Amino acid sequence: MSVLIKGGRIITAADDYVGDVYVEGERIALVGASLDVDADRVIDAAGKYVLPGCVDPHTHLDMPFGGTVTIDDVESGQTAAAFGGTTCHVDFVIQPPGATFAQALDEWKAKADGRQVIDMGYHMAITDLNEGGTLEELASLPDQGITSYKLFMAYKGALMVDDETLFRAMEVAAESGALVMVHAENGDVIDVLVRQALEAGNTEPLYHALTRPPEAEGEATNRAIQLAHLAGAPLYVVHVTCREAVEPIQRARDKGWDVWGETCTQYFFTSLDDIAKPDFEGAKYVYSPPVRDKANWDVLWNAVRTDALSAISTDHCAFSWDGQKTLGRDDFSKIPNGGPGLENRLHMIHEFGVRAGRITLNRMVELLATNPAKLFGLYPRKGTVAVGSDADLVVFDPERRHTISVATQHSKSDYNLYEGTEVTGAPDLVLLRGVVLVEGDELLASPGTGRFVERARFGEQLLPQTAPA
Ligand code: URP
Ligand code: ZN
Ligand code: ZN
Repeated sequence: MSVLIKGGRIITAADDYVGDVYVEGERIALVGASLDVDADRVIDAAGKYVLPGCVDPHTHLDMPFGGTVTIDDVESGQTAAAFGGTTCHVDFVIQPPGATFAQALDEWKAKADGRQVIDMGYHMAITDLNEGGTLEELASLPDQGITSYKLFMAYKGALMVDDETLFRAMEVAAESGALVMVHAENGDVIDVLVRQALEAGNTEPLYHALTRPPEAEGEATNRAIQLAHLAGAPLYVVHVTCREAVEPIQRARDKGWDVWGETCTQYFFTSLDDIAKPDFEGAKYVYSPPVRDKANWDVLWNAVRTDALSAISTDHCAFSWDGQKTLGRDDFSKIPNGGPGLENRLHMIHEFGVRAGRITLNRMVELLATNPAKLFGLYPRKGTVAVGSDADLVVFDPERRHTISVATQHSKSDYNLYEGTEVTGAPDLVLLRGVVLVEGDELLASPGTGRFVERARFGEQLLPQTAPA
């Protein structure tokens, strides 16, 4: 099967020009000003952008968490992603207590097998290096294409690890070529603040945010940076929300340390005003780290513009309000932490980043596709429009109007964080390795089209498996 995308404005992290993209089989075979080739299908992209498929480096599908399981499984979550122009994501395998990493990986792969709509990789979230997973086993994960380890410095009594575990994992990563990811909040301090709030009778969702102050995020971010530097490991700080965390990342980067940070779509648009909404509606905005005051929105836009932060993910960890978030109606600490967002990252960042003049189109592509692909060992197979790359492409109509709503979304959650937001600009057509996944409002490819991708080690490239046809 061959596809010719004609006359679109091709946007990569570096380039912006009008041209044609010719796809043969799974890969991009030619890119040029005016290609004279026959194709099985010709797509007129005049007036449209041709973007690389977006890469979401941070999602949680079908994950047991907070006394329940995230509502989106691989099929529904990836369908939502495809409609939002995301063609590859990296999900978290969470090591169950006492399990080996191999057992954990088998369990997660079994949940995904045959249901994948888009391509995916896995990070390994380490919860225990005493029983179950060993340092030796951890060191072998990059051989299987699992080239990033995540550690939680929060969620005491559940996923949180101590500094010894964190440091040992960093030492292994430094040797094995893995990237260390941290959820940076001081879990011990948060645990004290949560107990104090509950003892004082403060049970409302707002107290989720008030018991996880920016200082707790800033302290843990700084600690992780120093420990990673000591261990010689590269570090990626996930879901950064505030000045207190941006500043230590910026300082480390200024010194040339191997430190990167990510923020998520929701932290540009939601705040303490949302989590304070009455009648338990605030529970929709319970995720960790929490929403902050609105002054941080500008901090984050500046950070993504200046490369203090290098990627925007969704941290899609969707629950329904009714029946899941309501588990914490009488106690904010029992509200499952997480929010939906896989479908709307490109919509929201294009509208309020590019159209509002905060970032360029090139920078948007870099933050949503190229940098996640580079950092997580997917580049140049993913994350760009180039000869030899996978034909993961988004034909994006910058004039298409779309109203974001739970009524039309593909996530199974019963709410949308951006309900009613009108955007101008949306994907018209989404291709995964040359197959049309989405056209307009229709999903054309069936589950099973997506694949597991073995990612390259940190700093190495994932090249096409064979030369382009
Ligand atoms: O609240 C969140 N972010 N839930 C997902 C798990 C995590 O911390 O990334
Ligand atoms: Zn986290
Ligand atoms: Zn997460």
